[in-house]
Amino acid sequence: MRPQVVAHRGASHDNAEHTLGAYLAALDAGAEALECDVRLTADGHLVCVHDRNVRRTASTHGIVSTMQLSDLDALDFASWKNPWADLDDEAPERDEELGRVLTLRKLLETVADYHRPVEVAIETKHPTRYAGLVERRVVDLLRDFGWDVPGAPVRVMSFSWTALQRIERLAPAVRLVQLLERAQYWPMLRGVIGDDWIVGPGIETLREHPKLGRRIARTGHEMHVWTVNTRAELDLCLDLGVTAVISDRPAYMLDLLGVR
Ligand code: G3P
Ligand code: CA
Repeated sequence: MRPQVVAHRGASHDNAEHTLGAYLAALDAGAEALECDVRLTADGHLVCVHDRNVRRTASTHGIVSTMQLSDLDALDFASWKNPWADLDDEAPERDEELGRVLTLRKLLETVADYHRPVEVAIETKHPTRYAGLVERRVVDLLRDFGWDVPGAPVRVMSFSWTALQRIERLAPAVRLVQLLERAQYWPMLRGVIGDDWIVGPGIETLREHPKLGRRIARTGHEMHVWTVNTRAELDLCLDLGVTAVISDRPAYMLDLLGVR
């Protein structure tokens, strides 16, 4: 079976990551799942932002966890990607709404209302800092959507085993992805992650450690690999029989797989 194509931060190769614009572009391209990183604001909202500081994506200093949602909502998360677009007569006019901070709730609503089935892969970032609050908020939100049940179109990913354990305790039916930061962590994680947990190694790690992918595959764990952007990277994943590729270029991946 071919791997599922997951849009990493939306169709983020061509669009500003984590914006509604990037996710709508991914859906238009046919992405079968959407990956997003989530952080908690000071007033308790889950927002789709990768970095601790908004400097890279909103061109101003600000630590997400110390900001209110309204502070973030006043920022432009799109212009950094193509700063000259406003000067380009050929470029389509920017829709400011599509470039604002995106809440996880809005992303889930978008997926729930979409005309075909789509899944969401939620990655919690640096969760231990909040002593479990991020995980509780994620699970509360999934419950609001009725997505804490078997077969729900969602999974939660983290580099933190502790964070995933918390999710498992709060919502045992939610699928979990243990992200793998370094090959060296695999022998440790292998003994402690749940049998049905998915393993998420990076493509670089698989390339640098050619035996690792086979070792993981032999354990029977599904593999979701990030960030797969080239033909050679996709070929490696196909060779390993991975079940999902997480890509900044979902349209290109679907083309290579012959599904578009
Ligand atoms: O999908 C997992 C991958 O996104 C992890 O790395 O830094 O892009 O969140 P990062
Ligand atoms: Ca991520």
